Amino acid sequence: MTYGNVILVGFMGTGKTTVGSALAQALGIPHRDLDEAIAEREGCSIPELFATKGERYFRDAESAALRDLLRERPQVLTTGGGAVLRPENVRLMLQEGTVIALSATEQELIRRLEGDTGRPLLAGGVADRVRRLLEERKGAYDFAPIQIDTTGKDVSEIVAEIRGRM
Ligand code: S3P
Repeated sequence: MTYGNVILVGFMGTGKTTVGSALAQALGIPHRDLDEAIAEREGCSIPELFATKGERYFRDAESAALRDLLRERPQVLTTGGGAVLRPENVRLMLQEGTVIALSATEQELIRRLEGDTGRPLLAGGVADRVRRLLEERKGAYDFAPIQIDTTGKDVSEIVAEIRGRM
């Protein structure tokens, strides 16, 4: 079977990077991660980029990196939770690949993200920030034709479920 781009979207903590890496291995195609590509291009970590240049700059860098990465195929591309906030990014994803949204319950997300220090948007209180952002982003991942709830599932189960739905 030949694959084009498989694009994973979803809120922080839904397991996009871990699942994307295992999925790419199972499909025998490369895995690229949008945040990793941004950090490479900018020469600093995502928290540093937020701290020095701000979220607006990060979002511009994110959109530019998305456009560039989607020129290559086949690949599994994992994206940051906010990459879907710009409509042009959503259009591009739907045009260039099979988009899969991962989700998990609020309780599970808080459990997975508690103690995280690498996500600037969660600084100052994981549970509160997760609740607020989930509310703000309600429906933001619904555009993906394949929806996978990862709550209580392990990586191999999630990969099998995705493969069964592609
Ligand atoms: C963000 C999610 C992060 C990262 C940045 C902003 C967001 O990626 O891109 O911290 O706005 O949801 P993960 O979803 O991989 O944590």
